[in-house]
Amino acid sequence: MEADAFAVADQVAGRLHEALASGRTLGLATGRTMEPVYRVFVARLRALPPQERQRLISSWSSFNLDEYVGLGDGDACSFAQFMALQLGEPLDLPQGCLRLPDGRAVDPEAEAIRYAQQLRAAGGIGLQLLGLGRNGHVGFNEPPCRPEACCRCLTLSASTRQQNAAAFGGDPQAVPARAITLGLAEILAAETVLLVVTGAEKAEILRRSLQEAPCPEVPASWLQHHRGLQVIADQSAASALCLS
Ligand code: GLP
Repeated sequence: MEADAFAVADQVAGRLHEALASGRTLGLATGRTMEPVYRVFVARLRALPPQERQRLISSWSSFNLDEYVGLGDGDACSFAQFMALQLGEPLDLPQGCLRLPDGRAVDPEAEAIRYAQQLRAAGGIGLQLLGLGRNGHVGFNEPPCRPEACCRCLTLSASTRQQNAAAFGGDPQAVPARAITLGLAEILAAETVLLVVTGAEKAEILRRSLQEAPCPEVPASWLQHHRGLQVIADQSAASALCLS
């Protein structure tokens, strides 16, 4: 891993570790940005004395942002499987620790309501980890999107299906057309929001998200309303920001 990429992953993994140690519920994300983060996080937890690691794992509580409709546990391209491979298996997390919407639910709209209720019953999110879509989406909150949007089932944009096609053999048509996502409402209700952005291709959308007035066309721009927003970006992603 390049030094810059490692610095980002290490910083974010440190924040996850802290949040877990203080008993906060984690809001977890998928995507390529998170792969190095989870690798470093796993290495960090594995380096702990076994009793300390066990203590952290036994108090684990997490909710993922989203899942494709039609895919679930055991489907190679599901986010459930991504999380199992990145965290569940390497950390030997007990079954059910990693909570995600059930993409295989018969009624996805009802599943979105159930998932939001489950999150509320757990007291909401302590630390929300977020990646940034190239069209400004967070979770799967596609533009246009208002900050009041709740957990729901929605149709993915053509650009998002294109962006995520690599995991589906490169075919955008193979990417499910719909997904269940936590809404901006649940995301903005988290105690702390940690937006993680890497790569030059995200530089312009990161600038619009942070340095233009919030608007529905850039869902991530509503994060500016969150008092506990923190942004961790590598140099390429931060290159369009006006930092004074
Ligand atoms: C995906 C996910 C988001 C993720 C974003 C960026 O579609 N739903 O949660 O943050 O797109 O993904 P990547 O990190 O691969 O660029």
